[in-house]
Amino acid sequence: ARQRKIRNFSIIAHIDHGKSTLADRILEYTGALTTREMQEQVLDQMELERERGITIKLQAVALNYKADDGEEYLLNLIDTPGHVDFTYEVSRSLAACEGALLVVDAAQGIEAQTLANVYLALDNDLEILPVINKIDLPSADPDRVKQEVEDVIGLDTSNAVLASAKAGIGIKEILEQVVQSVPAPQGDPDQPLKALIFDSHYDPYKGVIVYIRVIDGKIKSGSKIKMMATGKSFDVIEVGAFKPRMTIVDELNVGDVGFVVAGIRHVGDTQVGDTVTDAKNPTPEPLPGYRKINPMVYCGLYPIETSDYVDLREALEKLQLNDASLSFEPETSSALGFGFRCGFLGLLHMDVIQERIEREFNIPLITTAPSVIYHVTLTNGEVMQIDNPSNYPEVGRIDYVEEPYVKASIIVPNDYVGTIMELCQNKRGEYVNMEYLDTTRVTLTYEIPLSEIVYDFFDQLKSSTKGYASFDYELSGYRQSNLVKMDILLNSEQVDALSFIVHRDRAYNRGRIICEKLRELIPRQMFEVPIQASVGTKVVARETVKAMRKNVLAKCYGGDISRKRKLLEKQKEGKKRMKQVGNVEVPQEAFMAVLKID
Ligand code: GTP
Repeated sequence: ARQRKIRNFSIIAHIDHGKSTLADRILEYTGALTTREMQEQVLDQMELERERGITIKLQAVALNYKADDGEEYLLNLIDTPGHVDFTYEVSRSLAACEGALLVVDAAQGIEAQTLANVYLALDNDLEILPVINKIDLPSADPDRVKQEVEDVIGLDTSNAVLASAKAGIGIKEILEQVVQSVPAPQGDPDQPLKALIFDSHYDPYKGVIVYIRVIDGKIKSGSKIKMMATGKSFDVIEVGAFKPRMTIVDELNVGDVGFVVAGIRHVGDTQVGDTVTDAKNPTPEPLPGYRKINPMVYCGLYPIETSDYVDLREALEKLQLNDASLSFEPETSSALGFGFRCGFLGLLHMDVIQERIEREFNIPLITTAPSVIYHVTLTNGEVMQIDNPSNYPEVGRIDYVEEPYVKASIIVPNDYVGTIMELCQNKRGEYVNMEYLDTTRVTLTYEIPLSEIVYDFFDQLKSSTKGYASFDYELSGYRQSNLVKMDILLNSEQVDALSFIVHRDRAYNRGRIICEKLRELIPRQMFEVPIQASVGTKVVARETVKAMRKNVLAKCYGGDISRKRKLLEKQKEGKKRMKQVGNVEVPQEAFMAVLKID
């Protein structure tokens, strides 16, 4: 009976179409706290209750709503991460729901992530309720956008709510639709426990807190549970709901969304998408869709100060507690010393981790250019997975090399089609097709090497279309490519951290540009520094950083002392991000120079 009154739903949208604002309004309307209040509360709570070890991540919230039919409903709103790196997490959060609100900006219409999210929702058989948001904008054209949703996605929009999350218009209609159109959970309370893990976080006092959606059966404290993919068993200490504070409850039943504490020490034991079941009376089949997620992009992280190495390891260990998708292992570079090779889900993930290490842990870093994983088949038949260009085998040992490709979908106004095609071709993209969304916009599909995307594809896409293009991609598999490793020599010494993999046809050009770039970036030293780019033993480009001619301070002689001090200060500032490589000082930007060159 209670089960009939539960509605589990998510909000899906392209970035900036108003997902957070709408969630805020829904929380407000149902009398839960506003997000802002909640953040304040959460902060308070973290300060206050740190000893008790309760922390909150607003990943799901339980709302009570009294509908027009006079009944009280329990609405569980489950949040989804908003970036392409986290597609798998999004799909598992959606798998915990029966419905999704599809928010589309009334002025902008469908964008690349609108479609990507709709496909994920359809994969999970969700009831999709279109919401046309921002109707308050003067440029809003709800009729056009409704038509677009019908034509492109094939959803019936006759009941689409016209809303303004900002002005609070349409919120009640949205909630009524959730109650009426999102199906109640279907599971069987008498079957063995079957629950989906859609998220988890690490709490220093309680261990890992697992976020689950119960599909069949129930779970309560004292239950012995088993994670089906990892095979690990645990005793449940407590279960709870997000109300929105994490509140302990007696049990979680069919359809419920909540959390489980079971003395789990490693987030890796609680993988997103895994099925939780009863250890003594397990369900015969795990839930479909579980996938172990693997890093896609790797880079080296090195402390600028050698003495920070141990701290850096501790920082990575701490971050990993909450982030099972972050991987790292020690690596040494002859140029940069001791550091770590780290694996990430994508570029955003990489940026976030780097920034947290620098900001929260206060460790200045040198990061090397990101690399994808290459599959190198040797002439003896052995296959190597190379995530660091300096481990690339010698040409003579290589039979063939494969690199990961993505299928990229780009939505742009007609006028930019030519620009985008040129950009994709520059990135070794292969045209797949082009479809008209409406009379003014098209979706272009290309197959592009992931290594080209991890460079500055996104920035170039935005800048060449005045920000009008939207973009999404998914991995499409490995393909054979004619790739070579390019080495960089400074002062005739090879700098391992500057090596990169490049398509043979572009090697010459890229080598030339890189050398020019490095010449600009590397400050003059007391001696002349030759810069060379080579493939194997063949030098393909060369530049020279001229020797410093006179002391910089010379011009201050006789001048006033404060000016001199300022100059010294400035030089020190500039030094922060330098690394001594052999006898050459190299700035951080140099290690990223390979990224921005086309
Ligand atoms: P991400 O968190 O970046 O994924 O974006 P989001 O989809 O959550 O969008 P968010 O709610 O942050 O809104 C993006 C911008 O649109 C903000 O500046 C909002 O104030 C604005 N916005 C949201 N809803 C409306 C609306 O109904 N009308 C108008 N005019 N602006 C809105």
